[in-house]
Amino acid sequence: MIVLGIESSCDETSVAVYSSEKGTLCSRTFSQADIHASFGGVIPEVASRNHIQKIEPLYHACMKDAALTGMDLDIIGVTNAPGLIGALFVGVSFAKGLGYALHKPVVPVHHLAAHILAAELSYPDLKPPYTALIVSGGHTHIFDIDEALNFTLIGRTIDDAAGEVFDKTAKVMGGPYPGGIFIQNLAEKGNRHAVKFPQAFKGEIKFSFSGLKTAVMNTIQKEQFCLEDIAASFQWTVASTLADKTFQAASLFKRDKIVVGGGVAANQEIRRVFNERAESYENINVYFPEPARCTDNGEMIAYAAYRFYRFRNFLNYKGSAYDTKHSIGLL
Ligand code: KG4
Ligand code: ZN
Repeated sequence: MIVLGIESSCDETSVAVYSSEKGTLCSRTFSQADIHASFGGVIPEVASRNHIQKIEPLYHACMKDAALTGMDLDIIGVTNAPGLIGALFVGVSFAKGLGYALHKPVVPVHHLAAHILAAELSYPDLKPPYTALIVSGGHTHIFDIDEALNFTLIGRTIDDAAGEVFDKTAKVMGGPYPGGIFIQNLAEKGNRHAVKFPQAFKGEIKFSFSGLKTAVMNTIQKEQFCLEDIAASFQWTVASTLADKTFQAASLFKRDKIVVGGGVAANQEIRRVFNERAESYENINVYFPEPARCTDNGEMIAYAAYRFYRFRNFLNYKGSAYDTKHSIGLL
């Protein structure tokens, strides 16, 4: 089966083709990060306009890379939720137009489900059941995924997402937007145990990062510690909080595999802490996709569409752009 994947939920326009026989045939992404950097965050209207400009050239370039025509496609997968509504409309409208013209089914893909399933692209033998942590600019959620691909939400943040805290911390330290890599680079030169930061909801499977954010700001203002030590201690606190709760969830559901996805999963300290933690848990293995598969990409959408195709929930033959029947219920 040959699947086109389209992603436009936030500030990346991305198109890819996945073949169930040969793997990923092509992948093209236009990141708007530099455009939004000057605003210090993503401006929805600007994002939509850039998606409109880029989506069609990216589709043609991608098909040329793979030496395919539209008629070679079997299905079209597109992110339909969650995300910026104007940005989603661009991808969904393009996918539906293409599906209509080519007479191909259009499979709606939940963005978080795709981030989770991205690990299966990196580890072909990996299949559910597993526990998944999704950490991005907008989400910090733990799911249980069973053999039948049912996603059950176990816990989530009650305020900021992990990526949001990385971005806001970078901002107060004078770094760019998005700030995850800036913090990671700064932290490399610091001591992760220099500052003791608070961890919310100890022992529970839910997150809160607003207290940590305030504690970091207060510590910066006091000027007792260098920024490198603050960045390293902040990053270690986020990493160990994420690991505590994800391993707790896996133990509770008796899962022996943990999958971590989303942009923040590219973080080296988070990978290190999870791998260290796995050594102290008998029978729990940890799976991180390569960093390029952690941030938003069309490849994960194509692959998720391939995995969801059997549910026969097509956007162009029934349902609407808002149909979440086989999504994980979070718009
Ligand atoms: O999944 P993603 O590309 O977009 C959303 O769906 O939000 O995630 C973007 C987030 C940003 O907050 C960015 O700062 C963060 O992922 N991020 C990182 C790293 N690379 C990206 N955070 C920490 N360490 C990184 N290396
Ligand atoms: Zn994402």
